[in-house]
Amino acid sequence: MSRFYLTTPIYYVNDVPHAGHAYTTIATDVLARWYRLQGEEVFFLTGTDEHGTKIAQAAAARNRAPQEYCDEIAAQFQQAWKDLRVSNDSFIRTTAPAHARAVQSFLKALWEKGVIYKARYQGKYCVQCERFYAEDELIGGLCPDHRIPPEVQSEDNYFFRLSDFRETLLAAITDENHPQHFKIYPLARRNEVIGKLKQDVNDLSISRATLSWGIPLPWDRSQTTYVWVDALLNYLTAIGYPDDPRHVEEWWPAQLHLMAKDILWFHAVIWPALLMATEMKLPKKIFVHGFFTVNGQKMSKSMGNVIRPADLIKEFGVDGTRYLLLSAFPFGADGDFNQDLMKTAYNAALANDLGNLISRSFTMVENFCGAKVPPPDDKNRVTSRVLEELKKVRDHLERLQFHYALAAIIAAVERLNGFIEEQAPWKLAKTAPAECQSVLRELLACIKMMSFYLWPFMPDTAHAVWKQLGQTDDLEAGAKRYFVHQGPVDLAAGQVTQKDAPLFPRK
Ligand code: MSP
Repeated sequence: MSRFYLTTPIYYVNDVPHAGHAYTTIATDVLARWYRLQGEEVFFLTGTDEHGTKIAQAAAARNRAPQEYCDEIAAQFQQAWKDLRVSNDSFIRTTAPAHARAVQSFLKALWEKGVIYKARYQGKYCVQCERFYAEDELIGGLCPDHRIPPEVQSEDNYFFRLSDFRETLLAAITDENHPQHFKIYPLARRNEVIGKLKQDVNDLSISRATLSWGIPLPWDRSQTTYVWVDALLNYLTAIGYPDDPRHVEEWWPAQLHLMAKDILWFHAVIWPALLMATEMKLPKKIFVHGFFTVNGQKMSKSMGNVIRPADLIKEFGVDGTRYLLLSAFPFGADGDFNQDLMKTAYNAALANDLGNLISRSFTMVENFCGAKVPPPDDKNRVTSRVLEELKKVRDHLERLQFHYALAAIIAAVERLNGFIEEQAPWKLAKTAPAECQSVLRELLACIKMMSFYLWPFMPDTAHAVWKQLGQTDDLEAGAKRYFVHQGPVDLAAGQVTQKDAPLFPRK
């Protein structure tokens, strides 16, 4: 058994959860669930980023004490993930006292390594990004991301010698044999990082003198830890750094950090450099997905086009939401969502293909087999063709190509629907009842096999199918036996099936 530690970014609590946060979180959840079925021991972490100017301002704008405000929004994130069946093993909050203590320990270690110095800093800071920008990074004097003028800030800060790590970082990214080699995907993003690293890299201001909503530096309590250093450390503090070295040893390094392109630099450069400076191992892989727009527009409160997970669930159900978010465009590329496209995709793949397959299959078993699983006869008319599609899921997931993996599952569904049309069990029921039983038996066995592949993506649907198959044992355990031990898809003859309401009503 191997260990697989994977993470989402921890989300800012200046806003309640939206579909962008859900996108990364659901993708990570699919992987966590998939690897659990493959017999790996998985630790899936998500959480909330609760310090810094942006959060302090958000609380102040609502006349709330920051901690109380954070508590409320963090609870909303937790609820949203629960509603979306996100199976995270832990949820870290950066205002948790244990995190604060651990951040201080890490900073102390950095301080003792001599990679910190104090200097006066003057720069342009975008509060929304929580970062300084160099003059040539601004577009028309505005933050390239938020299109707002950054604030000029000038104060004494502590700096981390990030520039000292530039060459080692370059080597670690580009040389597969480097002892600290780590991977950045997709390759275009990796090349972007390499390109920037080949230019000059500035040292990083890691503290703020004028901000109190954060973690004080252990050696100078008048300064507060820069929110990004505080936040990145969550990946370590959540697994027990530094109090539980055994647990850290078990899980670190993370196998995979997932995020969108907006925070690539922090994860691909600053985070590894901080780890190198303290002689810790680096994460194995960083995967950077794209940004999606809504009707061609950036999702923003001021545009009034922010999609909330709860609205999607109301419209398409939990599994509909999970399916639609991950199937729309390749993970890694930018994409666009609009209501009409989502509805069309829902009706085509879920209502007409998958939902229809399940509902017609169990109706036929009820009508032609007395709602009982027919006996096995080892006929393989469609099973290999279905399996050929389903087996592609593994490869696609290894490369985080969720939309291809889902397309493979839907292709398997279409093969089964085609099989039903071809065999016409309703005719066989009259002319060749034994053949009808045999066809429906094969259909049910394929549906059971499919439920194993569906579970990581659409857990409720997989369970609903399982129940209709009359299965009483544990779906995950069955799936694990199937994947890990190549166990057979056994279906007890005579098992009573339980046809249920349609899974995906048409919109
Ligand atoms: N708090 C930092 C991350 C710290 S991690 C140590 C942060 N938070 S955030 O709330 O702004 O979340 C950014 C992340 O949310 C993106 O990297 C991405 O995972 C997700 N997304 C937010 N909007 C998105 C889209 N429109 N499209 C795709 N993903 C989006 O940055």
